[in-house]
Order: sequence, then structure tokens, then C-alpha cells
Amino acid sequence: MSNANIAMIGLGVMGKSLALNLIDHGFSVVGFDIDPTNRARAKSEAERLSQQPQKGRYLAAMDLGELLANLASPRVIALSVPAGSIVDSVIVDLLNAGLSREDIVVDTGNSLWTDSERREVEYQGKLRFFSTAVSGGEIGARFGPSLMASGDEEAWLQIEPMWQAIAAKVDSNGIPVGQFEAGEPCAAYLGRAGAGHYVKMVHNGIEYADMQLICEAYHFMSSVLSMSAQQIGQVFAQWNQGVLNSYLMEISADILQTLDPVTGKPFVEIVLDKAGQKGTGLWTAVNSLQHGAPAPTIAQAVFARAQSSQKSMRTKAANCLSSDIEPLVGLEQQQTISELHDAVYCAKLTVYAQGFDLLKVTSDREGWQLDFANIAKIWRAGCIIRAVFLQHITQAYRATPDLDNLLFAEHFATELKSRSYGWRSSIAKSAMTGVPMAGISSALSYFDALRCDVLPANLLQAQRDYFGAHSYSRIDEDEAAKYHLNWHLEPRNQVRV
Ligand code: 6PG
Repeated sequence: MSNANIAMIGLGVMGKSLALNLIDHGFSVVGFDIDPTNRARAKSEAERLSQQPQKGRYLAAMDLGELLANLASPRVIALSVPAGSIVDSVIVDLLNAGLSREDIVVDTGNSLWTDSERREVEYQGKLRFFSTAVSGGEIGARFGPSLMASGDEEAWLQIEPMWQAIAAKVDSNGIPVGQFEAGEPCAAYLGRAGAGHYVKMVHNGIEYADMQLICEAYHFMSSVLSMSAQQIGQVFAQWNQGVLNSYLMEISADILQTLDPVTGKPFVEIVLDKAGQKGTGLWTAVNSLQHGAPAPTIAQAVFARAQSSQKSMRTKAANCLSSDIEPLVGLEQQQTISELHDAVYCAKLTVYAQGFDLLKVTSDREGWQLDFANIAKIWRAGCIIRAVFLQHITQAYRATPDLDNLLFAEHFATELKSRSYGWRSSIAKSAMTGVPMAGISSALSYFDALRCDVLPANLLQAQRDYFGAHSYSRIDEDEAAKYHLNWHLEPRNQVRV
């Protein structure tokens, strides 16, 4: 084979799955992995596929020279390697192996977006750098991921047919369709090299918060309503039939109804309650803090994972800080569950509003001109946060591309109005029972602060001026005019600074 469409370097879970997906769709792939085990597995996979009537062909290359020799020109080489310095070292190896300046290198890993920006500049004139953030895990990569592409615009023309073919697809109502059916692909070109990975980072921040909200609902039903994992799983399965329909709700329902094959107990109850993280949610929270685009519920989800990992401290505190809160009596179960449903839904809307606000702030700062309808559109299937209500988000941004805040869209404003009682009531019950609802309540605080025409930052500015002469603006003058009050003189007088 000397004219393969694309190479895949890194044949771990994601790389291998993307390669097989490409082959399913008629593209010929050359694969390579530095690890001899993965290489050998690819070789036998290629032999197996050569016996079958495949649309695309598969070649397992033994080194980068063989890989480059088997690609059609200009070459397209996708990397599926761990984020960080490995991406650069593979690129340097490719350059040494004879990569030309017309060739395209596509980073499909979970790279930090600023690394992608840096690479676009650093490799200019040596190769065409492109990035594509992939969401959907192993199954998504194999049968239809969501692909957030960015980088060299001309390179996109060559990559687009492949990415559109392998991406997840939805029908005109936003409902996912099969791998080989016609539909709108969940793959799009988003802008300069950093944009795709930035959008994926925010996707993951939303993912962290979305997961946290579902976990809090589980915790509440288990601790306050004394429901079994099986029963909670059934409630989630029901919720998954309505406005909360989403991949994360679907898998949570399944997880909760699964038994541990070793003990026969509910599986979830034998899993240690210490959350791990690879860091993309943390990147989102840090980015939100750095640029003053408030995403408190995403940050709260990162804190919740950190607090969960302080297991030994929590075990001690459970004894020495035990509370004497009386259990709430007379809670009507169905009513409480229905309020909780609305609490999760309203908080979820708010989390997406925080995520899209972060995208907007960064898009304006970086001059990316991100198309929010397009982003919502490619999150409707394939990715981890796919959810039925992404169709409404797509429609909201299609109708008003420069929407100030997602919650201003009529559909969502109406939903929040009619459901916020359950949100508030659930949080009140969580406070009165001592069962934490950090994500759900942080979202409500964000929502309430958003609705507050006047916040107490007037007192805060006065405090700053009092102890640090940091100045303030007056409501009866132009905001640009700054003043200081001589707090420590008698009489106190105001000076312009
Ligand atoms: C996806 C996922 C994927 C990965 C997360 C897990 O979109 O396919 O987000 O990227 O599962 O990075 O992140 P944590 O290990 O930090 O939970």
C-alpha cells in the first residue's frame, strides 16, 4: 500500500478505535505505535482485516520511515499519544524521518489548548499543524465521536471528508442516527489551532459538573430518602426519558442497577468513594478564574473531587463532627424526587450557561469568533455530554448568535421560571439534612447573582478603599472616574484619583 489516506501514530484505545472507524468508512490507514505489543496487535488486526471485504485497508508500519512511505501526498498523520511533551517528540521524530512542509500533523489527544497554539507557530514552515479534540471515549472513537477541529484552514479541506464520515451523526431534530446513516455529522472546524482543544476543555469542565449534579441527586435519594441503588437507578432511567435525557444520565441509571459480580451487592456500593481526575476540568476552572468568566459550578465539581479524595480526613470528621440534625420527617417521596429532578435540570442548564459564557469570553479575547450554534450542534451526539437539550441550545444560538447568556434564551428562561421552586426546595432540604449539594447549590447562587441588578460589591469596593485606598467609582458619575475617601481624616472627604 503506498497511497493510504491517513496515518495513525499511537494505537492505544483511542488511536486504534479511530483507525478502525476510518477503515469502516472506506479510508486506508497506516498505523504505528512505539510499543511493540500494540504494534504486533495492529499487525494481526491488519492481517485479519485483509481477509475480510473491508472498504479501507490497514497496514501496520514497523517504523516511521515505512509509515511515511505508505501515505498519499500531502500526507495526513494523526497522533493519538498522551498530551504533553510526547506530542512534540513524535513531531520531531517525524521531521527527522522526512516529513515535508506540505504534510499535515493532526493532534487528536487531550492537549492543553495553549500547547496547540504554541505548536501552530513553532512548526510553521516545517509542517501544517492541525488539532482535533475527540470526545466519546473508546466506543465513540470506534463508532462515531464528536470531533472539534482547528488549525490550518487549507488542511481542513483535506481532513474534512474523513472527519465528517467517521463522526457521530444526528437527524434534523438532533436525534442520533446510526454509524452509516445520513445525517448531520458532529464534526466541525472551529478556528485557529487552540480553538478545538479549548472547546474540548470546556466540554470536559461541563462534563465534570454534569457528573457531579447526578452524583448529588444519587447521594440525596440514598441518604435522605433511604432508596436503594436499584431504585435510584430506576428513577434515573425514568428521568432519562424526559428533559434530562443524556448519555451521563443513561450510564448512571445502568451503573446503579448493576450488581458487583464478586459480592452480588450493588456495584456502586463496592466502589471506593475517592474521585480521580486527569486534569481537564481543573484546566477549565483555572481558566475561568484567570479570565473572570465565572464558572463556579465547574470549579465546585473539581473541588468536590478533591474533597472526596480526602477520605481519611472525612472518616475522622464523620466521627468528631457528627451532627445532631434531626431527620426530616414526613417527606413525601414522589414530591421530593420530582423537586430533585427540577433541581438537577435547572442546575444543568446553569452549568451549560457557565460553559458557553467561558467560551464567549475567550472567543472575544482570542478573536476566534466561535460559532456557538455549531459547537452545540457537534455536542448533540458522540461526546460524553451529549444530551437532548443540546438541540435547544443549538436552536437558541441559531436564533441569536450573540446571545449574552444562554439563560436569556426564551426556552430556558421559561424552563427556569417554572422549575426553580424544586431547585430551591431541594437545596433547603439538603441543608436541613446535612447532605451536601455543592454543585446544585453553587449553580443556584450563580443564577441568583446573575439576576441581581445590585450586588453587595458596593460594600466590597468601599472596604477595599477603606483599608487599601484601592478607589471606587460612583453610581452618579462616569464609571471611569475613580475616587478615594479619606477614611482616616476628620472630616472624611472625597478626592479624585
Ligand atoms: C471525552 C472524555 C475524555 C475523558 C476525560 C476523563 O470527552 O471523551 O472527556 O476526554 O474521559 O478526560 O477525565 P477525568 O479522568 O479527568 O475524569
